[in-house]
Amino acid sequence: MAETFFLHGADYNPEQWMKLKDTVWPEDMRRAKEAGVNVLSVGIFSWAFLEPEDGVYDFSWLDEVMDMLHRNGLKAILATPSGSRPPWMAQKYPSVLRMDNERKPYVYGARHNACYSSPDFRRKVTEMNTRLAQRYGNHPALHMWHVSNEYNYDCHCPRCQKAFQEWLKQRYGTIDNLNDSWWNTFWSHRFSGFEQVESPTTPSFLGEWESPNHNLAWRRFCSDHLADFFLLECEPLRKYSPHIPVTANLMHTFPGIDYFELGRRMDTVSWDNYPRWKNDERDRDISAWTDFRHDLMRGTGGQKPFLMMESCPGAVNWDDVNTLPPPGTVLYQSLQAVAHGSDSVQYFQFRAGRGGSEQFHGSILPPDGSTDTRAFREVCDVAAALESIREVCGSVTRNPVALVYDWHVRWALDYAWTAHRFHQKYEETVQSHHAALQRAGYGVDIIDQTSDLSPYKAVIAPMVFLLREGFAERLTAFAREGGLVYLTYMSGYVDEEDLRFVTTPPLEALTGVRTDELDAWDKGRENCFLWQGREWPIHEVAQLCTLKGAEALAVYENQFYKGLPVLTRNPVGKGLCFTLQARVETGCLTAVLGGLLQEHGVEPLVKELPAGVTAAARYGADGTEYLFLQNANREAAVCALPDSWVRLDRTGTAGGEIRLDAFSIAVLKRG
Ligand code: GAL
Repeated sequence: MAETFFLHGADYNPEQWMKLKDTVWPEDMRRAKEAGVNVLSVGIFSWAFLEPEDGVYDFSWLDEVMDMLHRNGLKAILATPSGSRPPWMAQKYPSVLRMDNERKPYVYGARHNACYSSPDFRRKVTEMNTRLAQRYGNHPALHMWHVSNEYNYDCHCPRCQKAFQEWLKQRYGTIDNLNDSWWNTFWSHRFSGFEQVESPTTPSFLGEWESPNHNLAWRRFCSDHLADFFLLECEPLRKYSPHIPVTANLMHTFPGIDYFELGRRMDTVSWDNYPRWKNDERDRDISAWTDFRHDLMRGTGGQKPFLMMESCPGAVNWDDVNTLPPPGTVLYQSLQAVAHGSDSVQYFQFRAGRGGSEQFHGSILPPDGSTDTRAFREVCDVAAALESIREVCGSVTRNPVALVYDWHVRWALDYAWTAHRFHQKYEETVQSHHAALQRAGYGVDIIDQTSDLSPYKAVIAPMVFLLREGFAERLTAFAREGGLVYLTYMSGYVDEEDLRFVTTPPLEALTGVRTDELDAWDKGRENCFLWQGREWPIHEVAQLCTLKGAEALAVYENQFYKGLPVLTRNPVGKGLCFTLQARVETGCLTAVLGGLLQEHGVEPLVKELPAGVTAAARYGADGTEYLFLQNANREAAVCALPDSWVRLDRTGTAGGEIRLDAFSIAVLKRG
C-alpha cells in the first residue's frame, strides 16, 4: 500500500506495564513523539489480557490504548493474538497443542506452536478476530491488521493427518494416481487407500522419511494448510473492515511456507529483518544477504512496496554471540530497507520488558524509559532521515533483471538424493547470483516460477531443479521473444511431481544442451575454466553435458572433463539462453552475468561500483528516479557517477564523484 510518509515505529506491549500504566503509558507517548515514531504495533501477544478466561473478554485496556494512540497522533497496527495462547486454552482444549514428527504431543509453553487443524483453536481464533474487527475495524487509529506473528506450521496430530489425506485426495483424485506420482512401487510402498498415508517423520527414521515425493507433498500441504488458516484469520477482518489492509510478518527464506502464495493473499507484505552485523569486513556479506532478503520479500508481494515490520535498534539477545552494532548501523539498515522497497522502518520493540526471554533484547527504550541512550539517539536519526527522503515513499522498483527463487525447488532440493545430499545450497546459490548481479550494478527483482516474465529483459534461474507446470514453456517463449535466459547445473531434473522425465527433458530445446552426468566434490577438489582472459575456479558441483545446438563459450580445463562445455550459449528465436554447468564463486558470477547482460543491452544502474558498494533504484508515479548507493564497507568509498543527481538525504548535488561515508547509504534523485 502506498504511503505518503514512511511508517516509523515498533512493536509495543503496553499490557506488560498494566500495573504501572499511569506513569509508563503517558511516558511512552511522550517518548514516541520525541523519537519521531508514528506507528505502534499492538496486541501481538495479548490474548491472556483480551480473554483472561474462556469466553470472558476484556477490551477495556485495548480501548484505552487505541484511544491513547489516536489522541497522540499515532497509528496502530493491530495484531490478531494467535501467535501465542494463554495457558487456560491448552488446559481446557488440549487439541490446540501440536504433535511433533515423532507423534509426541507438545505440552503448553513457548509460542508459535498451535495446531491449525484444531477445531477449538480455529473457533477461538475466529471468535477473537471477529470481536477485534467489530470493535476496532473503524477505530480512527487503526492503520493495518497484523495477522498472528511469524507463522510457521508442522503438526502431525491425527487431525492434521486427516487434513493431509483430504488434501492428497484433492490433488491426486485416486490413490493409484498418488502411487504413480510418488513412484510408490519402489520398496512396495503402494498405498491402497488415502487413509494409509501418514505425514513423513523426517528427519526421524521412525516412519517414512526417505521418499522425496512424499516429503515434497507434505511440505506443499503444510504450506497450503497454513495459507488457509491465514484466510480463516482474515475472514472477519475483511468482513468488518474491508478498507483496512492486512499483512502478516514473514521471515525471508523460512522453509516452511511458500511465501509467494501467502504474499498473494495479503494486501501488503511485511517482514522481520535481523541481520547479525559483526562490525568488521563480514558486514559486506551480511549486507548482501540482507539485500537478497529484502528483494525476495518484495517479490512475494508482487514487487509492491513492503514494510519492514521488525528490526533491532541495538543488539539482539537470541544469537549465540550478541554483537553490538556500531554507531550508524541502525541508520544503514533502515535506509537499506527503503532502498529495496520498504515503506517503513519498524523495530522490535518500543520498551523492553523487565523479564521474559527478551528482557535484554535491543529496544528503543530500556525498561526505565530513559532516552539518554545511543539506541534512542539513533532511532531519532532514522526519523530525521526518513523525513528528509519522504518523497520516496510509495515509489516502486523497475528492474530489468528477474532472479528466480522458488519454494517448490527448495523443497525438492532439500529432499533430493543426489550431489550433496541434504546440503544442496539452493538458497546460497541463488543469493550468490543476487550478490553477483548487485556487484555488477544491477537492481534485482526476485520472482517464482509462476510469476509474469513480461516486465523483464533477463531471467536468471539458478538450480531450477524442479520445473513447475508450464514454466519451461513460458521461459522458452520469453527467450523466443528476445529475452535473455540464464540457467545452471541441476536445472530441470524433475517435473512438478518430482519425477524424472521419460521424454526429452523440457529445458533441452531451450538450452541446446543435454545433461549427461552430475558430479559433487568435497572441499579442496577443484577444476577451472577460462573466461575473459582469466582463470576461474570451479568447486563443489560440476555437470557434464553434450551440446545439442548450443555453442560452448568456455570449457573445463582439467581432469576427465577437459574440453567439455562449462559455459554455453544457445540462440532461441529472437533471444538467447546461457547455461553455467558448474559452481563458481560470486566474483566469477559477477564477471559472467555482468558481461552477458551488458553485451546484450541490459544496462546496470551504475557501472563499475567499488567493491562493497551496491546500487538500488525506486521510481515515483511521475517517473522520478531515486538512486540509493549503499557502502557496506566499514570504511569510506568513492563512486563515479556520470549523471547529475541531487542528494535527498543531505543538501547538495552529486555528480562526477561521490564520496560515501563508511557504512552509509546515499539517497539521490536524478537532477
Ligand atoms: C521476532 C519476533 C518478535 C521478537 C523478535 C526478537 O522474530 O517476531 O516477537 O521475538 O523476534 O528478535
